[in-house]
Amino acid sequence: MSLLLEARNLTKKFPRAAGTVEVLQDCQFALEDREAVAVTGPSGSGKSTLLNILGGLDSPTSGEVYLHGEILDMSDHTAMSRWRSAGVGFVFQFHFLLPDFSALENLLIPVRGRGKVQAEDKQRALEFLAMTGLADRANHLPGELSGGEQQRVAVARAFMNRPRVVLADEPFGNLDREIGTRLGDMLFTMREQEGTALVIVTHDTRLADRADRKLELQDGRLVPAEEIS
Ligand SMILES: Nc1ncnc2c1ncn2[C@@H]1O[C@H](COP(=O)(O)OP(=O)(O)OP(=O)(O)O)[C@@H](O)[C@H]1O
Ligand SMILES: [Mg+2]
Repeated sequence: MSLLLEARNLTKKFPRAAGTVEVLQDCQFALEDREAVAVTGPSGSGKSTLLNILGGLDSPTSGEVYLHGEILDMSDHTAMSRWRSAGVGFVFQFHFLLPDFSALENLLIPVRGRGKVQAEDKQRALEFLAMTGLADRANHLPGELSGGEQQRVAVARAFMNRPRVVLADEPFGNLDREIGTRLGDMLFTMREQEGTALVIVTHDTRLADRADRKLELQDGRLVPAEEIS
């Protein structure tokens, strides 16, 4: 195995008039290629903040992120945009599908961001839709899909650009628990098939149990979940 993603000495402070909020405090994180890690922690502990920093959507107050041992230069907009578009796939709690585009077109949006859509991209998108049980929904608009179906499209979309890692932030938190667990199984199956590393923030213990490791964000640091009393 080789180290894919590493974060060293991350701190994140949100300065506010009423007082600075310190979210991450000397936080360390390491993720191997193809590894799946589940992150839990109380509301407001900084889970989304951490994922946003790992995915290049936000920058830390101090500390560094490394990709395959090379520092990710947060001031290099080209490198950061390449990491966001080709290195990472995001799944958020809300699907963020574009309402005027069909399920198929939504899957092709990440590809479009990189260049012209090829026939093989369309083929891959159709295979993903079939894999997620949505073969007959390819031409539906998001508004014509159920909440669970919308989130299935969002999961498939995260894998379209063959990212190194999928970052999923409480991806099924808005869904009925049973449906959420089923979609979680689908997410884990896809990442195994695609060989993609995964960081998933989830409170669903059954889902977290599918990960290779479980971490908890506590007082600004990540600790192995097993060590929590
Ligand atoms: N832009 C911001 N400005 C000020 N404070 C912020 C900002 N973003 C987040 N925070 C604060 O940082 C803390 C961590 O937020 P974050 O969203 O990372 O928590 P979380 O662990 O994802 O919580 P949840 O489980 O509720 O999603 C919270 O106390 C929040 O109020
Ligand atoms: Mg959050």
